[in-house]
Amino acid sequence: MNDILIIKNLTKQFKGEKKPSIENINFNLKSGRCLGVVGESGSGKSTLARAVTGLIPITSGEIIFDNNCISRFSPARYKKIYKDLQMIFQLPRESFNPVRSLGESIVLNLKNFGFNGDLKNQAVSLLKRCGLDSTFYNKYPGEVSGGECQRAAIARAIASSPKLLICDEATSALDMIVQRKIISLLNELKEELGMAILFICHDISLVHHMCDDVAVMKDGHIVEKDVTSRIIHHPDNEYTKALIEASNMY
Ligand SMILES: Nc1ncnc2c1ncn2[C@@H]1O[C@H](COP(=O)(O)OP(=O)(O)O)[C@@H](O)[C@H]1O
Ligand SMILES: [Mg+2]
Repeated sequence: MNDILIIKNLTKQFKGEKKPSIENINFNLKSGRCLGVVGESGSGKSTLARAVTGLIPITSGEIIFDNNCISRFSPARYKKIYKDLQMIFQLPRESFNPVRSLGESIVLNLKNFGFNGDLKNQAVSLLKRCGLDSTFYNKYPGEVSGGECQRAAIARAIASSPKLLICDEATSALDMIVQRKIISLLNELKEELGMAILFICHDISLVHHMCDDVAVMKDGHIVEKDVTSRIIHHPDNEYTKALIEASNMY
């Protein structure tokens, strides 16, 4: 399998800050694989996600997505790759326009990505694939639960069959049972669509269920990275050990 995402020496220091929020981050992510990024709050996970998706400019390093170096892309050029690179966030309601129904938001994405035909029908199929029946097409973000809204956000994100889906704490605002269901859905979609997932989460026990590989972040650096089973069962790093001990994994 090819590397869909290659991160080389990625550093981001916000203006006025004394030290970088992320520094010299390196990893590769292959198509069809799921890489978990774990670490405590403030370790730089969202900065990494926002840098990769072009929401913030980087300080130095390279981001290679689908064989293109995108690290210096303008917002307009970034827009063109969003068909293949999608992101879901912790608070799905905030990523939807409150005055547009869930279905209409999905239709808008399909239009933006150049799809044509019966877009309403396609949106209903996407909602159904994500566990929401056709009545959700006409519901507004404020009328559904957090879990339902996240399902709709996933339906919208997979509308263009992206090659990479970045999930930044996508299940963190949900209760445990809903979290597990969303993770199963993401795992199924990963298999069906062959997409890669960058799964960012502070909870190592969730990452354990979801990811092929795990990168552990602390203070803006990756302190350990390997296949999930090795990280969970034989962690080398003291911080990784502490994260596992503090989780409710066993
Ligand atoms: N826009 C910003 N301006 C200045 N500092 C920021 C900004 N966004 C994040 N940071 C800082 O970068 C560090 C990493 O934050 P973040 O990436 O949000 O961590 P995480 O997602 O792991 O909780 C924190 O110290 C945070 O205060
Ligand atoms: Mg974060």
